[in-house]
Amino acid sequence: MNLSTRIHNAVDYIRTRTDTVPEMGMILGSGLGDFADTLEERLVIPFTDIPGFPAATVPGHTGAFVFGKKHGKEVLCMQGRLHYYEGHPIRLVAMPVFMMHLLGVKTLLLTNAAGGVNKDYRPGDLMLISDHINYSGVNPLIGEHLPEFGPRFPDVTDLYSASLRMKVKLAAVDAGIALRQGVYMMFSGPNYETPAEVRMARILGADAVGMSTVPEALTAAQCGIKVLGVSCITNLAAGVSPHKLSHEEVMETTAMAHDKFHALVDLILKTV
Ligand code: HPA
Repeated sequence: MNLSTRIHNAVDYIRTRTDTVPEMGMILGSGLGDFADTLEERLVIPFTDIPGFPAATVPGHTGAFVFGKKHGKEVLCMQGRLHYYEGHPIRLVAMPVFMMHLLGVKTLLLTNAAGGVNKDYRPGDLMLISDHINYSGVNPLIGEHLPEFGPRFPDVTDLYSASLRMKVKLAAVDAGIALRQGVYMMFSGPNYETPAEVRMARILGADAVGMSTVPEALTAAQCGIKVLGVSCITNLAAGVSPHKLSHEEVMETTAMAHDKFHALVDLILKTV
């Protein structure tokens, strides 16, 4: 089955469950998915219900689309995401964003856990993504061009919308939420980076490193969806950190940053 048919089948199934048109989409990363539980009038559609949808495999990613309302906005949260390192073809990692486009999403918030490359950063910091470096070696837009999802050669100069970031920055200052702003660099994973790779990332201009977000952001850009990205800096990246990295540390820091992260996502919903 080609990708377009697969996307349409999945959306047709969702349309049998709801006719809501969500203006805001969210893809919630490691340990950050429970924001979806705070939506009102929730409808939860597990990935496993959706024909042709790949199954998520990472602990901390439960795997469901959650429709709901908050602050008067119709929202569609993807609780848990698909990662390239799980073995999914990169075009399927992007499938949820193609689906969101057909479902009506106009603005997409992408969140992730990331390692701090910038030496000023501390675990628990929140970083608005200003731009990215795609070092993953893959790109979900490679392959047959599907014109219904936008141009073959999308411009990505303003991928992480500067005007949305400005609004969020100002609102965060008013709300007293400290917010960094920096460049996210994607590695394929699943290993954490070597110290040499982290030094390279810093020289190339990265502030944080991680294993997600870039495929979804590129796909949104092609579809004409505005993008905001927020990284929770869960650890200092390899070689910056004096100790070994672990998924446990990542989950502990997302738990510690939980309330601040929720406050920021709430603020973003109210602001954009
Ligand atoms: N590197 C890559 N991905 C990550 C990290 C890291 O240090 N921390 C959380 N996700």
